[in-house]
Amino acid sequence: MRFPWNKYIELPLESRNTLQVFITNKCNLRCTGCFARKVMGDNNQNISLDEYERVIIDFIQKEGKQINLLGGEPLLHPELREILEINKKYGLKTTIYTNGTAFNGYLPSEFKGVKLRVSIYSYFNEDSSKACLEIPDGFNFDGNFMVSATTRLNELLNSAARCEDFYGCKVFFISSLRELDNDRQEFFDDTDLTMPVVQYKELVHRFLDVYEGNLDIHVSKRGVFESTTSIACKKCHFSNYFIGNRIIQCPYDVVNLKYQDNYEFNERDCQQNSTCLMSKVIYRKK
Ligand SMILES: C[S@@+](CC[C@H](N)C(=O)[O-])C[C@H]1O[C@@H](n2cnc3c(N)ncnc32)[C@H](O)[C@@H]1O
Ligand code: SF4
Ligand code: SF4
Repeated sequence: MRFPWNKYIELPLESRNTLQVFITNKCNLRCTGCFARKVMGDNNQNISLDEYERVIIDFIQKEGKQINLLGGEPLLHPELREILEINKKYGLKTTIYTNGTAFNGYLPSEFKGVKLRVSIYSYFNEDSSKACLEIPDGFNFDGNFMVSATTRLNELLNSAARCEDFYGCKVFFISSLRELDNDRQEFFDDTDLTMPVVQYKELVHRFLDVYEGNLDIHVSKRGVFESTTSIACKKCHFSNYFIGNRIIQCPYDVVNLKYQDNYEFNERDCQQNSTCLMSKVIYRKK
């Protein structure tokens, strides 16, 4: 199936030096296939503010611009507000990835200037009325849908419609679950849980073809989507930080827990740009 270019334009994407900080090992869910479960372990540890600020100072010296907060579930970190203050103090852009279950302890104003990306894949079925994700009013967020082996077109369409009509989202982000614990520990080997990437491409194409809403659709490249507006960067501008000075620059190395002593942006050559798990393309209705 051909990409429906008659309906969309691709938006340019600014590439920023980005660090994903896994600020807590605590999580109230146990999503099947969660890639972070190995790194999280069972210790429920939270990053301390001292350690966090050290990470940020080092990040700034490395010309870092964008922080993504992950975990575990970042909203369960008891000092998340202080962490956001630190980011603000250093002028950093912040995105929080959250499962959306813990907004009750917060006010929408506490996330001013912060992008929230809520994982909605566990909450929507073919019949969107079964959706059980309850987010209090006033929180602006992007919907984040992780495609798995069983995802069907209707589920994607209903989720996008629910995000737009019910929650007032502006962005619908589509990515796909990759199962790291397969026999060869190869990122692109499929398991019962994962949708093969070629099928993922077809599903997203079909979605874009029939989608009638007005959300911006962000699509994780996964090696089957390419930007038509920018040339893939040959140097890596991503890294991941886990509590206790543990660094894994490339998500491909998370599967083998291949920790590094340090990281630098725009130094490491990358042969995998088109399949980079951190990269995406953005489509907007014409
Ligand atoms: C590890 S979670 C941590 C933040 C938060 N608990 C959440 O679920 O959004 C961060 C992101 O990784 C995604 N993710 C988890 N397991 C994955 C996997 N096996 N493959 C691809 N993405 C995955 C989630 O959908 C989420 O967007
Ligand atoms: S909510 Fe996030 S961190 Fe927790 S198990 Fe699910 S994907 Fe993993
Ligand atoms: S695939 Fe390449 S650009 Fe992406 S995180 Fe890994 S090394 Fe960096």
